[in-house]
Amino acid sequence: MGFLGSLFKKKTPAPARPAPPAALSWRTTAVTRETPSSISFEVDATMDFKAGQFVLLRPTAALPWRAYSFSRGPGLPLRLTVKAVPNGAVSPYLTTKLAVGDVLEVKGPYGQFVLPATFQRALFIAGGSGITPFVSMLQAQEKLGWPTPITLLDFNRTATEQILKADLDALLASSGGKLELVHVLDDATSGPKGPPTKDNFLALFAGRENPDVVAMCGPEPMMDLARAVVLERYPGVTLLEEKFSVAHDGDPAGASHQVEFVQDGKSKTFPVKEGEHVLAAARKAGLNMSAGCEMGACGVCRVKVVSGSVQVPDDACLSDGEKADGYALVCVGTVKGDCKIEPAP
Ligand SMILES: Cc1cc2nc3c(=O)[nH]c(=O)nc-3n(C[C@H](O)[C@H](O)[C@H](O)COP(=O)(O)OP(=O)(O)OC[C@H]3O[C@@H](n4cnc5c(N)ncnc54)[C@H](O)[C@@H]3O)c2cc1C
Ligand code: FES
Repeated sequence: MGFLGSLFKKKTPAPARPAPPAALSWRTTAVTRETPSSISFEVDATMDFKAGQFVLLRPTAALPWRAYSFSRGPGLPLRLTVKAVPNGAVSPYLTTKLAVGDVLEVKGPYGQFVLPATFQRALFIAGGSGITPFVSMLQAQEKLGWPTPITLLDFNRTATEQILKADLDALLASSGGKLELVHVLDDATSGPKGPPTKDNFLALFAGRENPDVVAMCGPEPMMDLARAVVLERYPGVTLLEEKFSVAHDGDPAGASHQVEFVQDGKSKTFPVKEGEHVLAAARKAGLNMSAGCEMGACGVCRVKVVSGSVQVPDDACLSDGEKADGYALVCVGTVKGDCKIEPAP
């Protein structure tokens, strides 16, 4: 494009804000124990989703919403798989109390943890329950006739904790050599051994062809380590990440700032502490702002920042262009000074 072209090039407008999703009711039709600490369950519903996406659900109105990825490919009977996190608010309930006939409140689907339409070779890195979206992705690849080679590194502490192993074995058998399945166990006496350390990752990458896509899903510490090793070993690779451990309750402390929210000509100002999510502070002040996933994944809570600034984590669903145009997400956004916001168009 010439100088004048770039000078007068119009900025692409930010995509319209999605409507808040209506909560759905799903009735549980089957509950299967996967391992001592995890279950899978099926429901009496259908949903259009992309392999790798998740829903938010809560088993009762008294419990908080939590995210769970589909553990089957699109078009198959819907299934979710949950591993108990000790002392967690929701997962111990689901893994010990969920029964056939129970009704769950559900919102979604959400998420950008989705493979590109085409790629040459993929490396998947899963930790524990982080295997769920990969089973969905692999079943989608199976439906496409296994167009591309994929290596899956499946990290678990012990063989008894391996989730969805029967599904993985069936995928391996159907893949005609396109899927390489590597089980990495902390207590392995033969074969690849964990835990996921830098040396163990490098040993697993050695001797394998370079991927153009790496997708990783699991608890945050493993992901942080894997990201650093992957970017060093495969510079320029397309990296997809889904963190399964999310801080739901921030630890607001320190200074308090004033946020002014302007809507339909009316204005309300409320205090937000450093580290506190703007949406949570707005609710405490009795202000009902639009929200969906409440974890930076859907864009429903997007606002325009009129003055000041709102910090949004890098992995939230806001493009660099939207950030540059002054958009922010209040569900995961925090402030370090006073600011003025209004609903995004
Ligand atoms: C996009 C997405 C998809 C997810 N998909 C699945 C899935 O398919 N299957 C599944 O079992 N889980 C999945 N999770 C995790 C799930 O949403 C919950 O975080 C998990 O079940 C714990 O919820 P809880 O209410 O029991 O624990 P909480 O009450 O939220 O947490 C209790 C404590 O455990 C820590 N914690 C929370 N989650 C984890 C974790 N995964 N590992 C280690 N520590 C943790 C918390 O920081 C907290 O200290 C997903 C998370 C995200 C963000
Ligand atoms: S509510 Fe979904 S991104 Fe904020």
